[in-house]
Amino acid sequence: MSELHELCRLADRPINHDYVSKLKHYLKEGIPATYTLEEAYHVENGIEDRELTSTTTPLHIIASHIPQDATENEEAIILEMLDELLLWGAGWSLIDKDNQTPGCILDKRGFYGSEYWNTIVNAGVRAEILLRKVEDNIEFIEDESLSIDEKPLGEKPGDGQYVNTKAQDDEDNAVEKIRQQLQDDPSNTTSIYLKTKLEYKVGALVTKDRGDGVMMSWEDTLMQAGCDSMFKNEQPDNDHCVLNIGFGMGIIDTMIQKKKPRKHYICEAHPDVLAKMKEEGWMSKENVVVLSGKWQDQVSELLSKGVFFDGIYYDTYSEHYEDMLDLFDLVVGLLKPEGVFSFFNGLGADRRVVYDVYRKLVEIDLNNYGLSVSFKELVPPKETLVEPTETGDSVWNDIRRAYWSCPVYYHPEAEFM
Ligand SMILES: C[S@@+](CC[C@H](N)C(=O)[O-])C[C@H]1O[C@@H](n2cnc3c(N)ncnc32)[C@H](O)[C@@H]1O
Repeated sequence: MSELHELCRLADRPINHDYVSKLKHYLKEGIPATYTLEEAYHVENGIEDRELTSTTTPLHIIASHIPQDATENEEAIILEMLDELLLWGAGWSLIDKDNQTPGCILDKRGFYGSEYWNTIVNAGVRAEILLRKVEDNIEFIEDESLSIDEKPLGEKPGDGQYVNTKAQDDEDNAVEKIRQQLQDDPSNTTSIYLKTKLEYKVGALVTKDRGDGVMMSWEDTLMQAGCDSMFKNEQPDNDHCVLNIGFGMGIIDTMIQKKKPRKHYICEAHPDVLAKMKEEGWMSKENVVVLSGKWQDQVSELLSKGVFFDGIYYDTYSEHYEDMLDLFDLVVGLLKPEGVFSFFNGLGADRRVVYDVYRKLVEIDLNNYGLSVSFKELVPPKETLVEPTETGDSVWNDIRRAYWSCPVYYHPEAEFM
């Protein structure tokens, strides 16, 4: 273990300003803020050219060693250390040998919502904004569809341990393999998803061969919140007109129908889902207009047709945060001044720290469109937090991969400022 790593164990109490001085010294001497325990081990043992499979950084070590009984002064010093490391490029989302980010460790140790937590989350927001700028600038030399950093909107993500692939060498074969996997993954690539057979099971819509969860009935309460938001500002004249993007199991659309809107638009792209809608009679419901195809093609056409909505809800599959940003362009054109926009908020929801980072990011992005957003906290069923078992008390039994693992759902409601 290097001296830097030793320092981050915070072994000498009280934790005083010497810690910050020493840390600054190491960083100024050129030790990277991302220097890992694994790298130190390789150096100490003369191991060369061995691929690192995990990245236990100084941030991880601090997160693991913050004393539960730190005094106010000690807390201030630790926060200074975190700031210093982050300033020098420490990665908020790198993962250690236990597949944990520094934020995950803080959460496990009971520091959720603490100043330490906020420091990591704020660093995550800054890093993601910066990354986006960098990606924007290099887009012209990259095949967009190959970007390994692309990640679906949390709800149904692809395979990528995206949290650490950002830190990997692009030329690495392993990265190339991940690229290929993501590209072929229906949960990550819309064109593949739309050609993938789906299956309606009891309580779930899944991809037939792989068993990826496209939609699941445990999301009922979240859909009810989405539906309620769309009707929040309903007027007595019964002129309510709403748009739902992504039919899935029709959970939210069934709820919408109960509210008897004047017009209920549904946009859906997958042929198997459209077939199900036909079978269930959605195409011939008097107040329903089904837009068959991708929202990118169908919804943009409404802009020139003088159709405006009191409520818009968005919940698709295999799309990315960037897709939702494109949708915002349409939302501001289609939403009535008193209208409400909401969406299934699964952004980064397979890790609580990433979920918190995305909550802030989406708020910043919506604000840029003149929309303010509030989040109502809902508690998803506890079975969503249980690993699949033989006993069947987990919602993820028979589902390829859990796309949700946070104790609280942030239900978003966006309205013009
Ligand atoms: C998670 S499900 C929606 C579940 C729905 N909210 C419910 O209450 O059952 C996502 C749906 O979006 C559809 N979808 C995916 N990409 C789409 C796109 N670009 N345009 C329209 N629909 C899309 C999928 O086929 C799927 O039916």
